[in-house]
Amino acid sequence: MVKTEVWVEEAWQNIIQKINNTSRIIGAQFPHVSVEGKYECAEPHWWTAGFWPGQLWLIYRDTQDESLKTIAEACERKLDQVIMDYTRLDHDMGFMWTLTSVARYKLLGAEDAKRRALLVANLLMGRYNANGHFIRAWNPWFEGDENTGYAIIDSAMNLPLLFWASRETDDPRFRSVAIRHANTILDHFIEADGAVHHIVHFDPETGEKVESLRGQGYAPHSAWSRGTAWAIYGLTLCYTYTQEMKYLQAAKRVAHFFLSHLPDDFVPPWDFRLPADVTPYRDSSAGAIAAPGLLLLAEQVSSIEAHIYQRAAENILQSLYVNYGAWDDPQEEGLIRHGTSHYPQQKHLDNPLIYGDYFFVEGIARLKGDQDVFWS
Ligand code: GLY
Repeated sequence: MVKTEVWVEEAWQNIIQKINNTSRIIGAQFPHVSVEGKYECAEPHWWTAGFWPGQLWLIYRDTQDESLKTIAEACERKLDQVIMDYTRLDHDMGFMWTLTSVARYKLLGAEDAKRRALLVANLLMGRYNANGHFIRAWNPWFEGDENTGYAIIDSAMNLPLLFWASRETDDPRFRSVAIRHANTILDHFIEADGAVHHIVHFDPETGEKVESLRGQGYAPHSAWSRGTAWAIYGLTLCYTYTQEMKYLQAAKRVAHFFLSHLPDDFVPPWDFRLPADVTPYRDSSAGAIAAPGLLLLAEQVSSIEAHIYQRAAENILQSLYVNYGAWDDPQEEGLIRHGTSHYPQQKHLDNPLIYGDYFFVEGIARLKGDQDVFWS
């Protein structure tokens, strides 16, 4: 096995080279999924809009390459149209503005970026349902959609924007909404064995739980691997912001479930509980998201436990680099192959996904020594 430091540095150089090339093709757009080597771009309101500029900021932090900064700033400005389009804004504001405005504020101290992120944090806080103590996930995007009472596990990664806003403003409102939503995650999304539900439907008037729904997983009580990864990282971040042990314990429980279900190459299938007749496509993005979450988890625990999480994260990232990376194909715009976006809708079952790429880059940056993440 190659020594850790060597493969990490090699991976970082490959990332820089590929992103330099693709940045000239993609520019200030919002890539989502790479199909036959070309990234398809989504509209700015789509939840994935932050990941490309987020990647550019991670590279810029190391190389100071002004051309990447210029593109990331242009992406952030393009997102302004979304702020004014209430019907298309959903809870993924956290993903979108943490990796654009919060990132630019943290790296460059830009006051306009801070104001933008605070405005969006207010909008995210406004999605809180005080009856059920949850942040509403989506709006009714399609005729007939009724999702007023839906909350989803991905939201765990949107909470850092609220914690950040309280820290910046000394105003506890954002934080208390984040804490209430995080408690709802503990109460309704995490099973005793560490498996995670994607969607929980609450009655928006009484706040009572109605049902769990499969969402992007195979079944309501299966185990969607990307949701599990969102929970590992999101709950660990909740712990770092609050120092509340219950979030750390839940993050560990979910991490143990995740790690004990990994196949030999450390990269999960899209759902950990699939019947034999369903194709267990890999979801490389789930591995990529879990890895920096595990690295953060390793920093919160005793050295004996830390070793387990650190080693697991390194194994995942090294396998993604060696077995899934598209370094051998200069025509492929994605970095990491074999992501599964949405199996139940049969959408993008074996493709590079921008969030898989983003979290892989974040994980490698951390292994390389850049400890700060935009979520913290
Ligand atoms: N946040 C949606 C997903 O993970 O696919």
